[in-house]
Amino acid sequence: MMRSNRSLSWLRRTRINAALLCLFFSPGWLFAQTGEAPSATQLSDSPSQQAVSPDTEAPKADADAAAEEGDAAAEANTTEAGERPRPQEEARRSYLGRVLAKPMSHLGAPWLIRPERDEEERASESFQQLKLTEGMVVCDLGCGNGYWTLPMARDVGAEGRVLAVDIQREMLQKLRERSARIKLNNIEPILGVVNDPRLPKAEVDLVLMVDVYHEFSHPESMLWSIRRSLNPEGVVALLEYREEDPSVPIKPLHKMSKSQIMKEYQANGFKLVREYNKLPWQHLMFFARDDSPLPEIEPVPAQQVLKDLE
Ligand SMILES: C[S@@+](CC[C@H](N)C(=O)[O-])C[C@H]1O[C@@H](n2cnc3c(N)ncnc32)[C@H](O)[C@@H]1O
Repeated sequence: MMRSNRSLSWLRRTRINAALLCLFFSPGWLFAQTGEAPSATQLSDSPSQQAVSPDTEAPKADADAAAEEGDAAAEANTTEAGERPRPQEEARRSYLGRVLAKPMSHLGAPWLIRPERDEEERASESFQQLKLTEGMVVCDLGCGNGYWTLPMARDVGAEGRVLAVDIQREMLQKLRERSARIKLNNIEPILGVVNDPRLPKAEVDLVLMVDVYHEFSHPESMLWSIRRSLNPEGVVALLEYREEDPSVPIKPLHKMSKSQIMKEYQANGFKLVREYNKLPWQHLMFFARDDSPLPEIEPVPAQQVLKDLE
């Protein structure tokens, strides 16, 4: 009861915000539609508490349906000789000492394209770090309503592809509506399941995961599938809110520490190959397969990053 009251009041707030802030004419919308970087004056050093993510979780019925489909997908997705074995994993509540968050419901989708997002998170700066070029095959995993997908599609161009994966049909529908408005034909929406993003094998140059990895109920299975999808020099670009910084106005379960990220990725056959430590709220870390020719680097400790940001 308390939860549904909270969801309802959040919903009312969202509707009012959406109307008042004219979402579709804001700088954040422009970034989401075209990927254009904001001017320096649009960047802010003082994060607003409004950024706290909406308290909505994906409906349980959807999650159960996705889990069932996931079982079928897991059986069909057999392991070949020389590969790491596919994990046999049940839905988890915690993983390697971290309590897992529940997926954000599609009812929270307006929050993802809030006008102030670019300014708060400096999303354009993160986007530039992806270094996308024409012809790349990229994946926006946990794409939501496509805040990142649309600029990715613009940058990889007509010769490239964006595989846009989400487990909520409603999110993919919202993505389709937003991408239709700007006539991009290189986006492939994929309805993933909780333990399988249904990506092609060894084809993907970059898998972007923004504010989603911490929601995976089957982290080992997802990392196994993601690793399998990468080409030898392909990378995962992981953006997660910084747990080490209490001033980041996001609920604790939706944040991750650098050391926890390292623990989970190294345990699943990945190595750190690049990182960008200048974002106000998030870690941006790039991982490759541990058998990739890309050289491994050591992470800069989070406390050092926070000191450097002061
Ligand atoms: C907080 S939203 C972030 C959306 C988008 N990345 C962004 O930054 O705007 C997380 C999204 O990840 C999706 N998600 C959660 N678990 C997933 C999984 N196992 N596979 C694919 N998508 C997943 C949720 O349905 C939700 O749409």
